Parts: sequence; C-alpha cells; structure tokens
Amino acid sequence: MIHSSSFWINHYQENATQQRVDWEIQPNITSEEKENILYSLKAWQLGETSEGKHLLAAATKHAKKIGDENYIAAIKLFIKEEQKHGNNLGKYIDAIGEKRTKSDWGDTIFRKLRYFNTSMELWTITVIIVEYAAQVFYQSLHDATDCKLLKSICNDIIIDEAHHIKFQNERLFTIFHSKSLYNKIFSVTWYCLLFLGTIHAVWFGHGKALKAGGVNKKEFMRQMYYKFFNSIKFIHQSDKMATPMVAMS
Ligand SMILES: [Fe+2]
Ligand SMILES: [Fe+2]
Repeated sequence: MIHSSSFWINHYQENATQQRVDWEIQPNITSEEKENILYSLKAWQLGETSEGKHLLAAATKHAKKIGDENYIAAIKLFIKEEQKHGNNLGKYIDAIGEKRTKSDWGDTIFRKLRYFNTSMELWTITVIIVEYAAQVFYQSLHDATDCKLLKSICNDIIIDEAHHIKFQNERLFTIFHSKSLYNKIFSVTWYCLLFLGTIHAVWFGHGKALKAGGVNKKEFMRQMYYKFFNSIKFIHQSDKMATPMVAMS
C-alpha cells in the first residue's frame, strides 16, 4: 500500500509527541564499551544533525512536478525527526563527558554527495540504504552496552527508522513506476552499485562498533543484502499499489 503525504504528515506529527527516552536515567557506560563504540557514536551523531537543505530542495522540485505540495511538509517533518536523533545522541555524548565531533570522513563524503544531488530518486535510494545501515548499527549499539539510557535512545531511533524506510520505499516505488523498462533496468543497476559502495564504507568505518554489538562482517552484509532486496522487491510490485491510501492497515 502506498500512503498519501497527508498520512505521513499525521504520522510524523503524532510520533513527535511520543517521549520514549527517559532522561532521568543516569548514563553508566563502561570504559571498555566506550572504547568500542565512541568513535561511531560521535560519527552517527554528526550524520543525524544535517540541516536537510539539499534534500528539501530536491523534494520541493519533485513535489511541484507531481503536484503534491503536502510532500514538502512530510519531508520537513522527516528531517526534523532525523535531527531529533542527532540531538538525543549529542545530549548523551555531553552527559558522558565527551566532546561531540565536528567532522568525520564518512559524513564529509555523504555531505559532498548531497551537495551535488538534486535528483529525488538518488536522494531516496541513498537514504534507504543509509537507513538500513542505521537499523543494523543502532541495534548493535544497543547490544554493545549495558547503559540503559543509551539503550533507550537506540530503541527510540530504531522505532523511527522503521517508518522512515516505509516512507522512503513508497517514494521510490512512485518514482520507479514512472520509468520505462530500460530505465528501470538502468536504475536497479546503479542502485546496486551504490548499495555495494555504501555497505563497504559503513563496515570500514563502523565495523568495530558493529562487532561489539555481535554483528560480524558476514552478518552485517547478510542483513544489509536481505533488507536492500526487500526494497527492490517492493518497488517491483504491481502498479495497483500506487493509489495513495489515507489510512494504514
Ligand atoms: Fe536517524
Ligand atoms: Fe532515518
């Protein structure tokens, strides 16, 4: 089922009222846990704090083209929810007496790509792949520590990300279905190349934290492959799904 932009606006507005992180809990991360995850925690915190200007510009152009102004509001709320993740992780880094990072190679590459990217299709597939990596990463972070506060921050993000993936998969479905057969084949080819590049970059940068959470390279690749091909399967479903629905079953 493909949901309307107004459905997603309602979803993000309602989700913003949920307070799932209990800031009364004192952080109690051990130095060993810190050694394993701190670099990645800081890097993902930075990545979650983007202003989203370029994504918003691409979404605005796309929304005008398809005559769906509500999509702009939905994307604004999506960006706000990502910034909430950055704020929560930042607050945690402050609470354990560490300094937030201002630059990271992975973030720099992603920011450069975002700067030149005006295509909603490229935005959407990139966000889907990164969201999948986030799902595996935050579950690993959760499993790599006994700190209840960090676990609750991770749980909150994991709940949000599941909806982000549905939101982005539906957008990719709509874009993909407007293409000819040859363009679809071309698109799937470069989606796969982007996927391959991203998963290796994520493992290279965050393998240590993922391993601390019990996810080795083989398992990371397996989970990512499974998730990614679910998206590829989703966008190949029948056109009948494309009618926007207001309610979610
Ligand atoms: Fe996020
Ligand atoms: Fe997300």
